[in-house]
Amino acid sequence: MANQIKGLVLAGGTGTRLRPITHTSAKQLVPLANKPILFYGLESLARAGVRDIAMIVGDTREEVQAAVGDGSRFGLNVEYIHQNKPLGLAHCVLMANDVLGDSDFIMYLGDNFIRDGVTEFVETFSKRADGTNAQILLAKVSDPHRFGVATLDSAGHVVSLVEKPKVPESDLALVGVYLFDQTIHEAVRAISPSGRGELEITDAIQWLISNGKKVRSHIVDGYWKDLGEPEALLEGNRLVLESIDRNIGGDVDEMSTIEGRVVVEPGAEITRSKIRGPAIIGEGTVVKDSFIGPFTSVAAGCTIEASEVEHSIVLSGSRISNIHRLEGSIIGKSAIVAKTERRPLANRLVVGDHSRIDLV
Ligand code: TTP
Repeated sequence: MANQIKGLVLAGGTGTRLRPITHTSAKQLVPLANKPILFYGLESLARAGVRDIAMIVGDTREEVQAAVGDGSRFGLNVEYIHQNKPLGLAHCVLMANDVLGDSDFIMYLGDNFIRDGVTEFVETFSKRADGTNAQILLAKVSDPHRFGVATLDSAGHVVSLVEKPKVPESDLALVGVYLFDQTIHEAVRAISPSGRGELEITDAIQWLISNGKKVRSHIVDGYWKDLGEPEALLEGNRLVLESIDRNIGGDVDEMSTIEGRVVVEPGAEITRSKIRGPAIIGEGTVVKDSFIGPFTSVAAGCTIEASEVEHSIVLSGSRISNIHRLEGSIIGKSAIVAKTERRPLANRLVVGDHSRIDLV
């Protein structure tokens, strides 16, 4: 086969301890619709025909390696590269040079989600006959100053890239997926660290452009990146749930109704309840006398009784009991949210670091 494309997956960085809602410190393992973000990326690489993956890991490498293993369950061969410090996306390319050799490769940031996958993107690059050296994906965003931003000429070719500009020249953000040929290795060696001390991939791509290499772009919809905020996580969960298919694997009693695209995983039990999709109920979870509304993910081993939950994420092993309505909420692992009858009748909270509670 001509030039089999390899994969470079970035799952390094320091742990994001600021986030209160999971025990995982690897942001790539935060679940969307009950599955780690990183797994969607790996599945889409496998679907696109990529087999060999170099994966950059950092402080959280034990967690990432325990979750991904040798990659065989995704149909991939994963080789790990340990990066001591997150010195930049271009630094990751530098570290992977030996493993990637002179192959074309797709670089995929492990905390990014692309709804429609990367198959078309990989195919176009593999079949190119115009000497394109790099192909980047762009998405229209409402807050471009938080991203790398591209400016295109009238023919749609990339003319410049700036990392987190104060005054963005366009609303086209760099999506965390890039295709490169071997010229990128020269570029990452040629650039210097930026003001924040990182080797920036935007600078390396800008180097390609300035040195007469061809950089093409493609605009995608359905892009999401973990920005570390609860609202962004709920939004990512919503984006993934929008494209799930109905699949009822667990037990649903006659008194319950399941409306629309709902996944009830094996071993889950739904009793005297209504589930309105899109929603997912994890393995072994019990839902009784409750309403689970749209855009809700309930992970494995939870109990939800006499409650209403909508547009929320509930992580594994949690219990929600007698709560009239939870909306836009993120409940961490093994948490308990319950109405009390205990005297004195008062709110009693055990709240983790950086949590937020909105009471009515
Ligand atoms: P981020 O740290 O999110 O990098 P960013 O420059 O896109 O965003 P920001 O500046 O807002 O923090 O990292 C993106 C992904 O790449 C994430 O999965 C962690 C991984 N990564 C590495 O593996 N090594 C690195 O040196 C860096 C910078 C990131």
